[in-house]
Amino acid sequence: VRHLIKETTESYAIGVVDVFPLDNYPVGHQLPFGSLWYTLPPNSTSKQDCHPEVEMSIVVSGTAAVEASGEITEVASGGIFLLDPEEAHIIHNRSADRPLMVFTTYWMPLDGSDGSAAGAQEAEAEAKPRS
Ligand code: NI
Repeated sequence: VRHLIKETTESYAIGVVDVFPLDNYPVGHQLPFGSLWYTLPPNSTSKQDCHPEVEMSIVVSGTAAVEASGEITEVASGGIFLLDPEEAHIIHNRSADRPLMVFTTYWMPLDGSDGSAAGAQEAEAEAKPRS
């Protein structure tokens, strides 16, 4: 077993968010998905994120207010939230005094497993001039 410890990874900042990528471990490159921890300080909001990968997140501590598809969903510690491909998302930590920590993992959807991926390809095809 390999015990992966957040504090031993080298973090980087995206806005107010501190990111602790598992890519820093040798194991990261053997896995078919990416994973990381991130933390938000009290009363803070992430930048909007949007990507083709499916993203599943587990709230480790604090409560995440997940803004996606026009609504905000509160996910408490121990809860999980799943984001579809190309579903834009913003994470808020609305607590005045508690940091928020989330563990997240993300991977490419399998071909044909999701209508969104096919939809994106159709949109791309439509954007090309027809001959
Ligand atoms: Ni994301």
